[in-house]
Amino acid sequence: MAEPHPCPRCGAGNEPGQSFCGSCGARLVLTCPACGATSPLGFRFCGSCGAELGSKGDEPRPTGEERRVVTVLFADLVGFTSRAEQLDPEDVRAILRPYYSSLREEIESFGGTVEKFIGDAVVGVFGAPVAHGDDPERAVRAALRVRDAVDEMNTRDPRMNLQVRVAVNTGEAIVSLDARAEEGEGMVAGDVVNTASRLQTHAPEGSILVGEETFRSTRGTIEYEPVEPIVARGKRLPVPAWRVVAAAFPPGERGASTVPMVGRESELATLSGLWDRVVADRQPHLATIVGLPGIGKSRLAQEFIDAVRGAGGRAIVGRSLPYGESGAYGAFAQQVKQIAGIYDGDPPEMAIGKLRTSAADVVGAESADEVSAHLSLMLGLEGAAPSEGAVADRHVLFFSARRFVEGLGRAAPTVLAFQDLHWADASLLDLIEILGSRLEETTVLLLVLARPELRDKRPAWGSSVQAALALPLEPLDLAHANELAERLLADAAGPVDPAAAEEIGRAAEGNPLFIEELVASMAERSSSTGAGLPTSIRGIIAARLDAIPPAERSVLLDASVMGRIFWSGGLSRLGQTADALPAIMDSLEGRDLIRREAVSRYQGEQQFRFKHALIRDVAYATLPRARRREAHGEVAAFLESVHAERDSPAALAHHWQEAGDVERAIEYFVAAADQASRGWAKEEAVSLFRRALSLVQQEDRERFRKLRLKLAVAEQMLYHVPDAQQLARDRTSEPPA
Ligand SMILES: Nc1ncnc2c1ncn2[C@@H]1O[C@H](COP(=O)(O)OP(=O)(O)O)[C@@H](O)[C@H]1O
Ligand SMILES: [Mg+2]
Repeated sequence: MAEPHPCPRCGAGNEPGQSFCGSCGARLVLTCPACGATSPLGFRFCGSCGAELGSKGDEPRPTGEERRVVTVLFADLVGFTSRAEQLDPEDVRAILRPYYSSLREEIESFGGTVEKFIGDAVVGVFGAPVAHGDDPERAVRAALRVRDAVDEMNTRDPRMNLQVRVAVNTGEAIVSLDARAEEGEGMVAGDVVNTASRLQTHAPEGSILVGEETFRSTRGTIEYEPVEPIVARGKRLPVPAWRVVAAAFPPGERGASTVPMVGRESELATLSGLWDRVVADRQPHLATIVGLPGIGKSRLAQEFIDAVRGAGGRAIVGRSLPYGESGAYGAFAQQVKQIAGIYDGDPPEMAIGKLRTSAADVVGAESADEVSAHLSLMLGLEGAAPSEGAVADRHVLFFSARRFVEGLGRAAPTVLAFQDLHWADASLLDLIEILGSRLEETTVLLLVLARPELRDKRPAWGSSVQAALALPLEPLDLAHANELAERLLADAAGPVDPAAAEEIGRAAEGNPLFIEELVASMAERSSSTGAGLPTSIRGIIAARLDAIPPAERSVLLDASVMGRIFWSGGLSRLGQTADALPAIMDSLEGRDLIRREAVSRYQGEQQFRFKHALIRDVAYATLPRARRREAHGEVAAFLESVHAERDSPAALAHHWQEAGDVERAIEYFVAAADQASRGWAKEEAVSLFRRALSLVQQEDRERFRKLRLKLAVAEQMLYHVPDAQQLARDRTSEPPA
């Protein structure tokens, strides 16, 4: 028998022929990019075809089944089946081929996956296997592009006369992460798919209908028109639907908020202090605002930019895009175009002409030709090749960019703002760092906004720039979070219940976008409870979880079963390899997802805590029911092994209940209730007795009766607690006789 193969990451033994480590998910073989054959790690060339094996094999992805919020896009050709009957098969193919390939292209360019083709219908999935944080919006934008693409095909060849109906629908689904779509295996299952299909059949020709969750999570950026709810076969209730009118904002932008900015005084003061130095000393700076999605980077920058403009300065904003084409120097190119007054629809000669005029203004007539020729190369303007042919190297281009930016700053104090730089190509990052370190004698502030993953792309971002400032943006504190929630609630729903505002402020963990989303969902469902986490928040957090290596992600998913606080021993019990854990926990802490706690409740057990309850909740929500049940059983067994019943029997009761072991759950609920009762926590005792009682079968009369009695006593005590407490206080304060 062959030796088990040790995993290079965690050391666990693996069977020969396995591609990924069964314990930590690390890759065990290299896959050839040319022929797809596998070779052992360490091979430089494919053992099968000799092609070079890149070191950047695709990272192992999560496997197995997960519950995920997905967005499904359904597109179908109207009446094509009946037309196809009268056509020659070769003509049918000639029509369908370009249609399919353009659909696939549009869906994939927005980060979706083509799940399958059913007849002439196409099903695309967004949000699985990997979430992007804005999947519903991506799907709707892809749907708009699909419709445009079909129009373009008809314009090219009017005989085609294709008409599509498209539907987009969002909801929770069970996802098989290792389904092979190319072999026809379905990846998602759930009502979300059926509903998408129903919506699609009811969509008027040439239009796009969306379901409720899609509407809710995209109405900030997409314009909709309500339509009559759809009465569909197999649906008990009519399905609410909206028709897509158009994209209201370009990708990545949000509508202006209706409420004033709260807090952030010190961040604003830091930025304006820096700006004063830039202006007074003609000393260019690079400032980088780093923070998680929705934390308020763009809002802070906007307030600062308004102040700069108010004082007569110039501020120009460019943005890197998460999808779709933006060109190598995307955000910088947008800035240059704004300065030169170039529109995207301008014919190339006109654009080049405008650029030359602008360059003459900024750097002077004698350098204008050279600088504008180089800039037009960076802007990707067609027909822009300078007469001397291709430019020898990038530094020449960068030098022209630098002269242009220096000229801007000499004419007027200038802020060049780069939004969402975590999505930028390496070339733009290089350009900004070079500008930051080389600009001289000019009043320019390079203001960069990025999510923490910028550091994954460029660990030493800004380190080559002397005058660089990093401004990490933290969540709002509780008082400001409450204030924001109150203002938004007042806007949305009128009279404000301060308790509701506080609940939102706390639940959103200081993230202003989450506060906005929670307020919107609360206002709409007109109840604070039972609404669950808004899809948008779940999507943003799911994307964060999907971006971490599978071994670390799998630890978080397991930990989520224990709760907000968890222990290393519990993780081992859940099948995580003990040897690999220290490194993984270290990395998770570095990513700011968990915290190691100094003191542990159980001796010899390292104790950890999820940094945010929302991360724990989203991780837990991805576990399929069967996995949850099994894992709760393991956790309960672990807690018993460390004698958790002594101080937290209620936790054990909860885990046994979730594991489906009603007997043990009842026992622990009763123990917990007795314990609470002894400690004068009468309210808790009552609620624990009630929970125990709710699990006891009515037929189990004797037990039922006993518990009812205990509950009644506890309820009596509850009634008397204020008196009893007063009595106790009076007694202790009585002078000794
Ligand atoms: N300090 C704040 N006060 C009030 N609203 C805020 C604040 N910070 C952010 N917001 C609002 O929260 C939402 C998300 O903020 P945004 O700046 O777009 O986040 P980011 O750019 O970090 O993803 C926006 O609607 C924004 O107006
Ligand atoms: Mg932003």
